[in-house]
Amino acid sequence: MTTSNMAHASAPPPIRPDAVWRRLLDEATAPYRSAGRFAWHFARGKLGRDPVFRHLLESGLIRRPARVLDIGCGQALLAHLVPASHRAEAAGQWPTAWAAAPALAQYTGVELMPRDVARAQAALAGRDDARVLCGDMCEVPFPDCDTVVILDVLHYVDIAAQDAVLARVHAALVPGGVLLLRIGDVDRRAGFVVSQWVDRLVTWTRGHRVPPTWGRTLRDWLATLERLGFVAEARPMSQGTPFANVLLVARKPGETAAPVPSVSSPAA
Ligand SMILES: C[S@@+](CC[C@H](N)C(=O)[O-])C[C@H]1O[C@@H](n2cnc3c(N)ncnc32)[C@H](O)[C@@H]1O
Repeated sequence: MTTSNMAHASAPPPIRPDAVWRRLLDEATAPYRSAGRFAWHFARGKLGRDPVFRHLLESGLIRRPARVLDIGCGQALLAHLVPASHRAEAAGQWPTAWAAAPALAQYTGVELMPRDVARAQAALAGRDDARVLCGDMCEVPFPDCDTVVILDVLHYVDIAAQDAVLARVHAALVPGGVLLLRIGDVDRRAGFVVSQWVDRLVTWTRGHRVPPTWGRTLRDWLATLERLGFVAEARPMSQGTPFANVLLVARKPGETAAPVPSVSSPAA
């Protein structure tokens, strides 16, 4: 064997982002086996198909260590994905192209639907760093936090209620904290209508009543966030889907503000 062959043979294999993501998906969804077949299949389908979760990890948008508040958390997928990421990084299994993995200090999920809360709590059994509260985001008090995640939730309440939730989120965030808010852009009519119908279908499949919804334009969302004191930017977040989803990265300015990583966003 030549010297270059020996060097080649001993080089560690490259860490491939897709392979890392598949392992994270396996690890983050394994706890749902104890919550029943539906919970496990739903978790795998959601994490596997929705581009936002991988984007949150690879772009370093979740502060570290983070007290995460996940509003409208459903089955609380992030409560498993964030620690799985931290473990992967600690084991040297983290792609160099990705931002540093997030670390979870504390996770609080808020979810209206008791069935989702039950599935989330079953998967979190034995964890003391994560809890899921069953209640209405318009009423549940929010704990102090570093990162707030609201994915596809605010359209379930009217505009005044949306603004009231956002104002309370601003108050709960530490200076420099980040709100990660995914919304549908009403201006992109076709994608918005498709996402609303899929949303209704999924809500019905999960055994819930299908509620009315309230949408607004991306311009309106950005203006509202600015009025409430956030500094916000929009990233397309529906690649690989027919939706008009946008991730709003909204920072609460403050002395301890960490720069929001500005990796290139995936195309819509
Ligand atoms: C489209 S699902 C998204 C779930 C989760 N954020 C995710 O991305 O996997 C919207 C969730 O918001 C919840 N929700 C709707 N209205 C709510 C309210 N007023 N308070 C708390 N949760 C609410 C629904 O029950 C549902 O679980």
